[in-house]
Amino acid sequence: MPKTVYLYTVGCQMNVLDSELVASELLAAGYRLVDTPRAADVILLNTCSVRQHAEDKVYSALGRLKHAKQRRRRIIGVLGCMAQKDHQQILRRAPHVDLVVGPGQLGKLHEALETVQNGGGPVVAISAQRAAGSKAEVARSFVPFDVPRRGEVRPVRCQALVRIMFGCDKFCTYCIVPSVRGPEQSRPVAQIEQEVRRLADQGVVEVTLIGQTVNSYHDRSSGGSVRLADLLYRLHDTSGLRRIKFVTNHPNHMDDDLLAAVRDLPKVNPYFHVPAQSGSDRILKLMKRGYSVGQYCEMLQRIRAAVPQAAITSDFIVGFCGETEEDFQQTVELVRRARFKNSFIFKYSPRPGTKAAALWADDVPQSVKLRRNNQLLAVQNAISLEDNQRLVGQVVEVLVEGPSKVARKSSPAGDAPTEIVQLVGRTRCDRIVVFDGSLELAGQILPVVVQRAEAVTLFGALTDNRYSAPVAAAHSLCDPS
Ligand code: 5AD
Ligand code: SF4
Repeated sequence: MPKTVYLYTVGCQMNVLDSELVASELLAAGYRLVDTPRAADVILLNTCSVRQHAEDKVYSALGRLKHAKQRRRRIIGVLGCMAQKDHQQILRRAPHVDLVVGPGQLGKLHEALETVQNGGGPVVAISAQRAAGSKAEVARSFVPFDVPRRGEVRPVRCQALVRIMFGCDKFCTYCIVPSVRGPEQSRPVAQIEQEVRRLADQGVVEVTLIGQTVNSYHDRSSGGSVRLADLLYRLHDTSGLRRIKFVTNHPNHMDDDLLAAVRDLPKVNPYFHVPAQSGSDRILKLMKRGYSVGQYCEMLQRIRAAVPQAAITSDFIVGFCGETEEDFQQTVELVRRARFKNSFIFKYSPRPGTKAAALWADDVPQSVKLRRNNQLLAVQNAISLEDNQRLVGQVVEVLVEGPSKVARKSSPAGDAPTEIVQLVGRTRCDRIVVFDGSLELAGQILPVVVQRAEAVTLFGALTDNRYSAPVAAAHSLCDPS
């Protein structure tokens, strides 16, 4: 009987990708993936440290798993950023954990599982702490985890994440990422090209290039100099590939040649996620973001001038140390002026190990953080709704991802491919569109007329009703775009 594995993932796209790679490797090693921890011999939690809330969720899950382990012998493992940051604390608070593997050591996971099965646990595999040696030494201890990728373990088969960089060197004062993901390292361009080609051969039509500061990508490994703009040109003609996205951008690396590449390459989506974090110069300085509000707005103008149809999105932290009502109002003002497609808004969460946590009190009360969060979200949502409403009546090109959450809930076992269900997809500007159609349309890019708009979702209908009718031959219809 093959061993069964349940893999639970929280956090960012780096973690989603790491989980896909772990799942691919364990499948190849003969494990079987299961949907519930109850059915699993091995339970792996891929964790996030970016905010306290994400860590609390993992500790409470570990508490529940203690009982699950008492009922039946199982292996419990903690992967990801918490593993790197808190390995000792995890084993102290949850002694039933058998293995702790950091994001830079995932290549050791399979071996660690075998050691534990043979009674040799617990196993701890983590990379060097950032202060433990030279940058090059620490970087070497974050080992790339490259395994053949398997489409069946991806959340959406036709879409794939592709890592182009590891780590971060920015050290924004609130952020734990540079400590847990190590120094910034760009992956060699040839490796990325090969991976994208293989994914396209597997039927992937959209790749999202990911990096903590993706637009600072700079590969010098083969003696030359390849930046993100060059990489986009090199990936663009990959046969079968229809769309290319990249996240997350840093405002200081939004170079004109990158904007020109997005403007000139039809497969590159006109979409920029470029977090501002705050609209107050005083707070930006305390955050050590390296730009002023004025510089950020200039950058927005350059994007809009080069790519007028671009959708721009942002992240904000409210309630950072010492944030006054006036600072917050400046953030509201920036959101009003910038008219982001959407913003992700977070309440500041002090992270032990960061400069902000060491130097400044977390002095904005939780209730004030919550109020500012809701207020900023309301301003952003009103803008998102207004912009989305302008699309009503227009036809947008949608990459069909699969059944919407509603459709998945009403039929968790999956539908017959030709049955009409509620589908979800995205426009080139990353707008979410919901419409009816058959499941076999997943992976196609189809025209949808927008009939109704909410702040985060457009509702529409396929313009060609051949696609929404339950015809067995739907897959043989040509793709109109
Ligand atoms: N508290 C709250 N939000 C944070 N982020 C990063 N660190 C923290 C923190 N300590 C947010 C930033 C970042 C996003 C991924 O998470 O906005 O862009
Ligand atoms: Fe964290 Fe700043 Fe690096 Fe983003 S750029 S990962 S916020 S340190």
